[in-house]
Amino acid sequence: MFQGPFDHSIIRRAKSKGLAEIYLHNIRDYASNKHKSVDDYAFGGGSGMVMMVQPIADCINKLKSERTYDEIIYTSPDGELLNQKTVNHMSGYQNIILLCGHYKGIDERIREHIITKEISIGNYVLSGGELAAAIIADSLIRLIPGVLSDETSALSDSFQDDLISPPVYTRPADYNGWKVPDVLLSGNEKEITKWKIEKGYERTRERRPELLNEEE
Ligand code: ADE
Repeated sequence: MFQGPFDHSIIRRAKSKGLAEIYLHNIRDYASNKHKSVDDYAFGGGSGMVMMVQPIADCINKLKSERTYDEIIYTSPDGELLNQKTVNHMSGYQNIILLCGHYKGIDERIREHIITKEISIGNYVLSGGELAAAIIADSLIRLIPGVLSDETSALSDSFQDDLISPPVYTRPADYNGWKVPDVLLSGNEKEITKWKIEKGYERTRERRPELLNEEE
């Protein structure tokens, strides 16, 4: 599931430049029972299997014995909703563990004793935490200095200043009568900057007004 997101584009470049390292660990490799099972029925009944404590605890404890981690994150729909502010903060971390949930969930004792942060990528349920982990990793890694070729491009992302980015255009300036706004062709840097800021606010007001009211 991680081959696509981690072996292409920006993340691949970050890895090949030595700016990010990603290690995948299969919880099943830590299963101590002879069937190598990592899930079991829920105590008290209920549908769905629950991921067992032992393989996850052994895996994470082994990793913790080798490195210090800033955060041990569990991807879950009931976690804190991911936003750019959290992403910016976490992009400065040295090491993190992302534990992907699966089945009906993981034994609560892992969350109580090992996990330091729970993150949701949105108010909907995925079939597993892998895609969420890939999204979290992508959002962090692209902010590591040197990963994006034009370092300022992350600064002008949508959300970096709590605003949606203004519209962008490229050639031709007139496509069958669909025209690029004159100001962008004017060469007047001051007017262009003003236009971009105004459009950013306009878009945010129209599409995501709640961003303008957020305090943080
Ligand atoms: N696992 C399942 N759904 C998820 C979500 N929305 N965010 C993070 N992890 C999840």
